[in-house]
Amino acid sequence: MDNLIPAPVRAVADDRGAFLLDGATTITAGTGTETTGRWLRTTLGAAFGLPLAPGGDGAGNTVDLRIDPAREAEGYRLAVTPDGGVEIAGGSAAGVFWGAQTLRQLLGPEAFRRAPAGPVAARAVPFTDIEDSPRFPWRGLMLDVARHFMPKDDVLRYLDLMAAHKLNVFHFHLTDDQGWRIEIKRHPRLTGTGAWRSRTKYGHRASELWDETPHGGFYTQDDIREIVAYAAERHIRVVPEIDIPGHSQAAISAYPELGNTDVIDTTTLSVWDTWGVNPNVLAPTDNTLRFFEGVFEELLDLFPAATSPFIHIGGDECPKDQWKQSPAAQARMAELGLTGEDELQSWFIRHFDSWLTARGRRLIGWDEILEGGLAEGAAVSSWRGYAGGIAAAEAGHDVVMCPEQQVYLDHRQDGGPDEPMPIGYVRTLEDVYRFEPVPPGLSEEAATHVLGTQANVWTEVMQNRARVDYQVFPRLAAFAEVAWSPLPAPGERDFAGFERRMGTHYARLDALGVGYRPPGGPLPWQRRPGVLGRPIEGPPPHV
Ligand code: ACM
Repeated sequence: MDNLIPAPVRAVADDRGAFLLDGATTITAGTGTETTGRWLRTTLGAAFGLPLAPGGDGAGNTVDLRIDPAREAEGYRLAVTPDGGVEIAGGSAAGVFWGAQTLRQLLGPEAFRRAPAGPVAARAVPFTDIEDSPRFPWRGLMLDVARHFMPKDDVLRYLDLMAAHKLNVFHFHLTDDQGWRIEIKRHPRLTGTGAWRSRTKYGHRASELWDETPHGGFYTQDDIREIVAYAAERHIRVVPEIDIPGHSQAAISAYPELGNTDVIDTTTLSVWDTWGVNPNVLAPTDNTLRFFEGVFEELLDLFPAATSPFIHIGGDECPKDQWKQSPAAQARMAELGLTGEDELQSWFIRHFDSWLTARGRRLIGWDEILEGGLAEGAAVSSWRGYAGGIAAAEAGHDVVMCPEQQVYLDHRQDGGPDEPMPIGYVRTLEDVYRFEPVPPGLSEEAATHVLGTQANVWTEVMQNRARVDYQVFPRLAAFAEVAWSPLPAPGERDFAGFERRMGTHYARLDALGVGYRPPGGPLPWQRRPGVLGRPIEGPPPHV
């Protein structure tokens, strides 16, 4: 119980003994908790080889799940008692699910295996009483599947890993200069052309090496529906991102008329094979607006409002040089009465803000959408530090804090020479653990606009799942605690205590097959050769 991650609000040990989960244990799932009942049965049933049949009377040898509306929506109480068996009461179906995640941790690292190592007669859960609820409603992970495609099954695995850490927002970065990853039926070349590139820059910026392997892939609309349903069963909201008007070279290479054709010959563009900020941005034409309205129409069908209230439109790193040079863009600005190119970017964003609002959704964008004036209902992902988030929150806009200096997990976790493809700052497990999403000085009123926080995983140097695991873990465990657990008094973040609990958590990650590197420890492929498939020496192989 003293090794839970993220740490619960309150946990009281009861030293009278333990409940035994055995062949006769049943799971009683009250109304609204059925999917959690199934999840427990398939997860723990597989790990221990126990039937965990549905039914029972809700007392005795039973795991009893129910909703108690008097509790906080995502909160739960988990009581394991000598007479009552296991009882999980959540404020909502989500609360019950987070309680089930805690139960899995209480059952030991073996509960994270896919199959029992040998015959299991019973598993002990110590008697305990836990009251828990999250600090923030937005506890996110962003995966960039554009720079390197992540096959669907790996995305599903990441949803499971998020759930195990009580993270509940999956920001799905689906498009960028280097690839368009979602099937759009009315614009088939977005994936027919835009999902594939002929080669890839090896390493970030300074490298002169190329990987000549063609790279690509995309999710069909059925794949997307499966991902969305899988996330919903795990009480994870999905925020799909279509990044406009910058980061759009893949789309322009597929449909050259989307670019600034009076500045460059956009028919010569291909899906970008290198990294950085790309000058080839969307043209501010009616045709572009109609084209992307079509994209968003399909997107809204695929990502229903109940689980995707927010739609991310990117808005980051859009150089204005082509708009400055383009007579058509300048004419557009004059027609709209705009005085600068920043306002043209705002005009783009405002258009989609109204368009999404009219359809019952909310727009969220990177903090550059503040430049030139923030659209009415827009929320902001504050990535260039806290400043954008502070400005937006003080102006009454909702904010997700994800400053690159702290929670960009593509940045190296270790300063040593064996760090594979090092980029960015060194941000250790302890640095992430000490990250505070609500900056000091924010007014009380503005602080209520901080919906929460997310860790962002940009995949320029992550060619496969092993590399993604390496960057993400164990730091995601520290991040999960930042997002979920109560804020300790200033200066009292107990990293030593967290590290001690990580001793058990590493065993959970091992059981899950996560290729992490403990601080100062060996690289995962040195630590457990064979577990990750081929040992990686020299340039990691492409998927
Ligand atoms: C970003 O990192 N360009 C949002």
